[in-house]
Amino acid sequence: MSAKSGSFKIGDTTVDMPVKSGTIGPDVIDIGKLYNETGCFTFDPGFLSTAACESKITYIDGDEGILLHRGYPIEQLADHGDFLETCYLLLYGELPTSAQKAEFDYTVTRHTMVHDQMSRFFQGFRRDAHPMAVMVGAVGALAAFYHDSTDINDPTQRMIASIRMVAKMPTLAAMAYKYNIGQPFVYPKNDLDYASNFLRMCFAVPCEDYKVNPVLARALDRIFTLHADHEQNASTSTVRLAGSTGANPFACIAAGIAALWGPAHGGANEICLKMLMEIGTVDRIPHFIARAKDKNDPFRLMGFGHRVYKNFDPRAKIMHKTCHEVLAELGIKDDPLLDVAMELERIALSDPYFVERKLYPNVDFYSGITLKAMGFPTTMFTALFAVARTVGWIAQWTEMIGDPHQKIGRPRQLYTGAPHRDYPPIGKR
Ligand code: CMC
Repeated sequence: MSAKSGSFKIGDTTVDMPVKSGTIGPDVIDIGKLYNETGCFTFDPGFLSTAACESKITYIDGDEGILLHRGYPIEQLADHGDFLETCYLLLYGELPTSAQKAEFDYTVTRHTMVHDQMSRFFQGFRRDAHPMAVMVGAVGALAAFYHDSTDINDPTQRMIASIRMVAKMPTLAAMAYKYNIGQPFVYPKNDLDYASNFLRMCFAVPCEDYKVNPVLARALDRIFTLHADHEQNASTSTVRLAGSTGANPFACIAAGIAALWGPAHGGANEICLKMLMEIGTVDRIPHFIARAKDKNDPFRLMGFGHRVYKNFDPRAKIMHKTCHEVLAELGIKDDPLLDVAMELERIALSDPYFVERKLYPNVDFYSGITLKAMGFPTTMFTALFAVARTVGWIAQWTEMIGDPHQKIGRPRQLYTGAPHRDYPPIGKR
């Protein structure tokens, strides 16, 4: 990392601050000493201009529509590899050799079962619990089942916890789904690949054979790959913040799942589908477009826009193709929902309101349609996102734990409340 420097004048005080350059991307001004030297904090709600950490994992150029994991473009990873290969890359920093890949697949596969007591833990939830509520609880509870991998100072335990979470997350998500629909849990089957295993755990029943459709398995694997990591987004930052306190990895990932749940983040795919259903038919679209443009109406077109991608989302391009492959495989042609989706896409790409604000369809727009076609209920969409993102959270958490400059995350504030005042007795208020 090359170091430049800059100076800033704040009032009468001039402060010299190092300007650091990464391998690619904008430089950062190191303001770590700002408060000591000027008595001022910086103010950046939503972290629009703030880099909170140094990272070697994922790079995004939102203007150019670039997403790289460890330097490799997402398009190449999605086209040539599978999800577990991307997991290996994120966790270890390099693509695996064939032997390393075989060993990694084997290790992950052998960790897919969950402690049998977990199935009783599930019984404590209401049947109609949202799968994300179950996931937050069940993943947090893993710390109570796997005591031998909660010591964050032991690199071996850290890696075991990491593999456990990547391996068990699909099992837990499938259990959340089965519990919700009142069907028996389906155990993982170790001769299947990651995505096929998940499809089987979700859709197989004990009374029938289940044959995995390879087109759907490939599409699901691609959805997982596309969602594996995404730099310092809200849930990843949550994982890092929780991890900075020394909390165990299962607790940190549970915190990430909670943050992912929101409709402005991972919950967008579920809300997007609900919105398409609410619109219902193409003739009702103009009404919703007018609402999206109305400043006095909080309604937003879900599945459109992105905080970072302001030209196009490279994942959305791949997902668009995968979405059509799945619809063709399942013979879905005249789906009113799809008609609404395609018309919305056309409008967003041509209407000046959306074009000027660079509100392109994002990955969740297409993944929602794909998952629905595969048979997943909308409530499972964000849980699937959590399955995929777990590896990114863990890679980022591991990087943070290993960073010698890591400190507890502790943002400052601009206080605008009452200044000091004396406590009045209750009778005098
Ligand atoms: N529909 C209508 N108008 C929008 C939308 C939308 N989806 N998104 C942004 N705008 C408008 C917004 O009103 C504002 O207009 P103006 O400049 O006239 O005030 C302008 O575009 C900029 O909006 P912003 O809120 O400053 O943009 P942001 O970068 O802070 O927000 C976002 C990004 C993703 C939260 C937002 O676009 C949004 O709410 N989208 C819908 C939810 C969604 O699909 N989220 C999934 C993101 S991808 C998955 C993930 O990575 O988690």
